[in-house]
Parts: sequence; structure tokens; C-alpha cells
Amino acid sequence: MANNKKYTLATIIALLAVAALLTGIIKVADKTVPVVVEAKSEEWVAPSLYSDATLKGEERALVIYGEDLVAHTAYYFGPKGTISHITNGMNCQNCHLGAGKNAWGNNYGAVASTYPKFRDRSGSIETIAKRVNDCFERSLNGTAIDTTSREMKAIVTYIKWVGKDVEKGVVPENSGITKVPYLNRAADPQKGLVVYESTCKSCHGAGGEGMMNPDGIGYAYPPLWGENSYNSGAGLFRLSRFAGYVKDNMPFQIATHQSPALSNEEAWDVAAFVNSQPRPSKDLTGDWPDISKKPIDHPFGPYADGFTESQHKYGPFQPIADARKKKQ
Ligand code: HEC
Ligand code: HEC
Repeated sequence: MANNKKYTLATIIALLAVAALLTGIIKVADKTVPVVVEAKSEEWVAPSLYSDATLKGEERALVIYGEDLVAHTAYYFGPKGTISHITNGMNCQNCHLGAGKNAWGNNYGAVASTYPKFRDRSGSIETIAKRVNDCFERSLNGTAIDTTSREMKAIVTYIKWVGKDVEKGVVPENSGITKVPYLNRAADPQKGLVVYESTCKSCHGAGGEGMMNPDGIGYAYPPLWGENSYNSGAGLFRLSRFAGYVKDNMPFQIATHQSPALSNEEAWDVAAFVNSQPRPSKDLTGDWPDISKKPIDHPFGPYADGFTESQHKYGPFQPIADARKKKQ
């Protein structure tokens, strides 16, 4: 008994010593390597379901279902959907690569850390669910889903889980869409056509129609324009979003952020070509209640500045940016 007690005491003392040591080490590390912490947030990596042992029960089930909804949206909500037929048949993942987990692939890394937030497009504070429904209505050219449904709950739980390791307010550098430097000329749809034919057509089709999977549910190569593509209110309809997404990610599984396949000029020009082709239009009268907040490349007037709709769509953008800076 007495021996045992002594043993226990010794163990506790030893453990305390180790704990003190560890805290010391951590403190030292904190003081000496703050730079590493920043680099970590730039090199954001998505969490993994395999190694996340803390995610359990209903929450784990929701995350798994949410990921499936993002990856196979058409299966649930497409023209042959098992839940309803409310979208154009694309998957969220067609634009949020790796179900929103890929670095530089328009990922969800910064969503949990920045929402709810005020957005100028709606002039209101938006929740993650509202932002998800924006993509249903615009990128999927569909209708919003019930925000109280299990499906919305799953998508939101999944997106929050994807961004769970990012500190509140932080936007990792490799999340969202990269910024391609402005050209000193307007982006040129004619030059973009040449890029399209040589670099995109083999997958996305001569008419931008894409190619369905053999089962007719979802796309092997999603459409870039035409009736099944995103509508005129979608993020990709802005040239900067399209150019950034494509520069880092297309051709699919060939281009990367570190080693893109297109030059800046090619990225802007192919964006101009694709976004001058026909596509569904959306009534945007409720957008941008404060027109001075429209992004530089928002292609629909009226504007608070004297630049034309065409210059806001195709550029050159630098003069618009300069004029805005002067005003501030
Ligand atoms: C046609 C392409 C496309 C599809 C399909 C699409 N999105 Fe998006 N999504 C975008 C673009 C572009 C943005 C804006 C990114 C930016 O401006 O940085 C965006 C933004 C978002 C954001 C906000 C990201 C942020 O960091 O603020 C969320 C959340 C989101 N989408 C969820 C979804 C979900 C869920 C689906 C499927 C129901 C979906 N999206 C389908 C293109 C798409
Ligand atoms: C090797 C085949 C391939 C080539 C070549 C290719 N893409 Fe894609 N593209 C894909 C696939 C596959 C996806 C969807 C990825 C996913 O769902 O994981 C995609 C998605 C897209 C998307 C977002 C979804 C949509 O349909 O709106 C855009 C935009 C896009 N590609 C543009 C381009 C452009 C521009 C080029 C030429 C510079 C190009 N792609 C070349 C296969 C390709």
C-alpha cells in the first residue's frame, strides 16, 4: 500500500515535471517562431475525415452527407434528382474542386472564418446558408433550397468543418480564387476563341456544352455556356473570377497554381470568349443596392463612375481601379 502511494506520488511529480517542460517548450516555440504560424495559414490544408477522431455521431453523419451533396449535387437536385429537380445538373464540386477542399481550387477554407458577413451584392449580412443558396440560384441556375432542410444543414455543417482550423477573421492565401494581374488592354474574345479551341474544347465541347457521364447524371466535363451553364448572376460570369479559377485549375489536372498552363493574357482572353457566349440570364434588379460597391468587373450598369458597361466587362480595368482610388 505505502509503496504504491509512493509510486503514485512519484508518477504525479514526474508528470508535472514533463508538463512544465512541455509548456516551457511550447512557450519558447510561440515566442521564437510566429512567422511559421503565418506561413501555416497561407498553406491551408483541409481536414481529413480519416484522421478526425473528434467528429462523431450526428455531426459526423452530417459532414459526410454534406460532402456528398457538394460532390454529387446533380444526383440529388439535378434534372433527374432523387430529392427535387431544381438545378442545371452541375455539381458544386465542378467549381469548388475536391468538394471545396483543394488549395487554390475555389475552396471553402475561408467560409467558416468569415461568415456571417456583410455582402455588398445583397446589401445585407449573409449566413453561410444564404451564400450556399446564392450558388444554387446563380451558379446552378436553380432555386434556393429550404434552409431548415437536412440537406442545407449538412452542407453548412460540412463547410464549417472544412474551415474549422482557420482562425476567425483569417483568409488563407490559398482559399477562394486567385487574383490574376490586370492586362493593360481589354480582354479579347477573339484571342480567347483561339485559346478555347486549342486548350479547352477537347473536354468542354465545341459548343461549350460539356459532356455528361454515361449514366446521364452529372457531367464528366461540365458545360461552360448554353442553357445548362451558370447564369449571368453567377460569380464566374465576372471575368476576374473566371480568369483566376481557370489560371490555377484548367486544363483540369494539368494546371496548378504553382505551374499554370495559361499565361495571364490567355486566362483573361478565354474568360472574355466564354463569357460572351449565350447563357441563362438572371433578374439582378435586387443586387448591389449601393451601386458604388459593384466590383470593377461587374458587367451590368448603372455605375457610380463614368466607365461603360463594356469596359466594366472586358477592361482595361486599371483605369477604373485608379479612378476609384482617387475618389477615396
Ligand atoms: C459554376 C460554378 C459554381 C458552382 C457550380 C457553385 N459555385 Fe459556389 N461559388 C462560385 C464562385 C465563382 C464563387 C465566388 C468565389 C469568389 O468570389 O472568391 C462561389 C462562392 C461560394 C461560397 C462562398 C465562398 C467564400 O469564401 O466566400 C460558398 C459557401 C459556395 N460558393 C458554395 C457553393 C455550393 C454549396 C454549391 C453547390 C450547391 C456551389 N457553391 C456551386 C462558383 C460556383
Ligand atoms: C482534360 C479535360 C479538361 C480540359 C482540357 C479543360 N477542362 Fe475545364 N473542367 C474539366 C473538369 C473535369 C471540370 C470539373 C471538375 C470537377 O468536377 O472536379 C472542369 C471545370 C471547369 C470550369 C468550372 C465548371 C463550369 O463548367 O463552369 C470552368 C470554368 C472550366 N473548367 C474552364 C475551362 C477552360 C477555360 C479550359 C481551357 C483553358 C478548360 N476548362 C480545360 C475538364 C477540363
